Amino acid sequence: MRIVLVGPPGAGKGTQATRLAEKLSIPHISTGDLFRANISRQTELGKLAKSYMDAGNLVPDEVTIAMAKDRMEQPDAEAGFLLDGFPRNVSQAEALDELLETEGITLDAVLDLEAPEAEVVKRIAGRRICRKDSSHVFHVTYSKPAKEGVCDVCGGELYQRDDDSEETVRTRLEVYHTQTEPIIDYYKAQGLVVTIGAMGPVEEVTGRALEALKQDQ
Ligand code: AP5
Ligand code: ZN
Repeated sequence: MRIVLVGPPGAGKGTQATRLAEKLSIPHISTGDLFRANISRQTELGKLAKSYMDAGNLVPDEVTIAMAKDRMEQPDAEAGFLLDGFPRNVSQAEALDELLETEGITLDAVLDLEAPEAEVVKRIAGRRICRKDSSHVFHVTYSKPAKEGVCDVCGGELYQRDDDSEETVRTRLEVYHTQTEPIIDYYKAQGLVVTIGAMGPVEEVTGRALEALKQDQ
């Protein structure tokens, strides 16, 4: 399956993507995680991305599209993938369509996670992620690690993302409404959008997603 996951910051895209990718046996491709891995390796791409991410703005399309394309061309993505955080504006969606067309493949669904703003703000405020792998995600009240400050998966140190400050979150939400939301209409025109509520326990949201994607649980 080839799926795009869309939703506001903090809706639980990363949390759901990890679970869905495992259940559907497809790689989870998160442009945010790819940028964060570049930042921790201190690559040129990481240095560039950090300046935009810390301000809550989108990293320029040119570098983002090249990075996503490169990842989608890896052998493990041949049979399918779950894109999390890409595309994030209409020009990225158009670039993805062009890439898929060149490969002679199509998307199966665009899964839209809906969550009220007050909830996403609470989720982001309590989020802690792992220094070794930013796809290891916890929450100080909703998803506590067994030992405070330590990743359950790999033992890495947990910390708060630099872009999770209140001010940056405000910018990220605005960027989501103005730049990312329009891709929902773009994909509605292709008949690909399935919308689910992202409220409630993590497992329930996964169940809803699998049902919406018409996959057995
Ligand atoms: P990115 O990393 O993609 O961040 P985001 O879209 O803002 O989304 P988040 O990671 O904040 O939230 P999420 O929806 O994944 O929620 P999570 O599962 O962690 O992007 C970061 C930046 O990178 C961008 O601002 C931009 O600068 C750049 N970037 C990335 N892609 C780009 C692109 N394509 N183009 C240009 N720039 C790009 O959950 C949040 C918290 O809630 C966690 O603590 C979790 O434990 C908890 N939680 C999850 N589900 C539940 C639940 N059901 N109940 C209770 N708590 C829950
Ligand atoms: Zn970890």
